[in-house]
Amino acid sequence: MPSLMDKLARKYLMRRGFSVSQIPADEGDYALYRYESRGVFDYGRYKTIQEAGNKRKIGKVWADEVTIELICDRLRKSSATVRSGLCHGSRNGAEVRWFEKHLAADVVGTDISETASDHGLVQWDFHERREEWVGRFDFVYTNSHDHAYDPKKAFQTWVEQLAPGGRLIIEHSMAHSPSGVNELDPFGVDPRILPYVLLEFGEGRFAVTDMIRPPHKKAGTSIWVFFLTKV
Ligand SMILES: C[S@@+](CC[C@H](N)C(=O)[O-])C[C@H]1O[C@@H](n2cnc3c(N)ncnc32)[C@H](O)[C@@H]1O
Repeated sequence: MPSLMDKLARKYLMRRGFSVSQIPADEGDYALYRYESRGVFDYGRYKTIQEAGNKRKIGKVWADEVTIELICDRLRKSSATVRSGLCHGSRNGAEVRWFEKHLAADVVGTDISETASDHGLVQWDFHERREEWVGRFDFVYTNSHDHAYDPKKAFQTWVEQLAPGGRLIIEHSMAHSPSGVNELDPFGVDPRILPYVLLEFGEGRFAVTDMIRPPHKKAGTSIWVFFLTKV
């Protein structure tokens, strides 16, 4: 994990126009925080940390309506029909409501936290297969992929949830980079490397086929929206 000195140095260089990426030590192309107790994966610890983070930040929204509108425009222009969507890791459901407003589609949202039902969401761990969701959605959206303890499993599960011609939409930023990894945000990858990492996760079954670079920034960082399709 980056030290205070690392963070200050990075901030100093970024203010002067340099792009600073941490080279992940363990996985090669991406960084992954491991929830291990004596070398064994501790799912209870992962869930407890995610629920605590969710409750601490329950009133906050990272998604923004302008970016969601850009995504909806792209979906409308490139699809005959967009009738159903699934948003993973939706916290208080803000993006679910924006997708419903701009697409007039039925949109389901998930969150791992027990607060999910308070916000009209399904309490569900997005890594897990849910039989009735397989092959069902015209789009699946998330900006919470940095919360995946097993990103390859999560991406494979999400692609499996797409109906024929459906798109998986990943909203990414520099905040999702290896330097942002901690016990709440276990997965970090540089936006310029993510399409390559997704090729590895896809094992020839899915890939990034489209992208939006919104003109605005969020919390000082640029945004990358990647669209994945089955290939
Ligand atoms: C950074 S927040 C993003 C919330 C929302 N998408 C937004 O834009 O404001 C990440 C959310 O993902 C949820 N989350 C973390 N791990 C999850 C998992 N395995 N399955 C489903 N949701 C998860 C957290 O509880 C949290 O509400």
